[in-house]
Amino acid sequence: MKGIVFREFISMVENEFSIETADEIITASNLKSEGAYTTVGTYPHEEMVELVSHLSAKTNISVPELLRAFGNYLFQRFTIIHADYIVNHQSAFELLKLLDGHIHVEVRKLYTETELPSFEHEENADGSLILIYKSRRALADFAQGLLEGCVAHFQHAMQIERQDIPEENGAHSRFTLRPMKAKHV
Ligand code: HEM
Repeated sequence: MKGIVFREFISMVENEFSIETADEIITASNLKSEGAYTTVGTYPHEEMVELVSHLSAKTNISVPELLRAFGNYLFQRFTIIHADYIVNHQSAFELLKLLDGHIHVEVRKLYTETELPSFEHEENADGSLILIYKSRRALADFAQGLLEGCVAHFQHAMQIERQDIPEENGAHSRFTLRPMKAKHV
């Protein structure tokens, strides 16, 4: 996993909890990196699992909830640090349809040794968008948070449904993004 993700996670902990909490979870985790992450470095995914588990133990917030919160936070950060990939789009659907074939393809060029998920999409006749998330890292909660952050950024009223399909070699989740109809008054 890229250092940028670790650095953003630690900054979320510092901002949303405290600097002391961030220090404590780093000390409690058995990290080969010792918590010193560079943006373009690559670190074992297990270090993120350890950090999140210690944060969960300390805060009594479940690991899935923390991963979702982090996804939300990271999308907001992407609108600043990777604005180029976001500002030209008019809607969440426009961006999400380009996630697999364009945005994450560019991410692979920008950062070496990336481990990215796949996000196939299908458009439904009823106006909803289906995204099929596949990854060996099984970070569907994190993906959900990123999707929520994306929808919030474009200020859409949208329902996000998720169906998880466990597989032997990773996970597979089907997200349905359904625009909410405006109420007639
Ligand atoms: C709503 C839009 C997005 C979603 C749902 C999404 C989803 C994800 C997920 C779930 C991962 C974790 C890896 C895995 O599950 O296998 C990931 C990694 C990553 N994504 Fe995205 N992403 C989005 C937008 C972006 C944007 C706009 C950028 C920046 C240009 C970006 C850059 C990255 C990077 C750098 C990683 C880390 C790769 C690694 O650690 O090797 N993503 N993304």
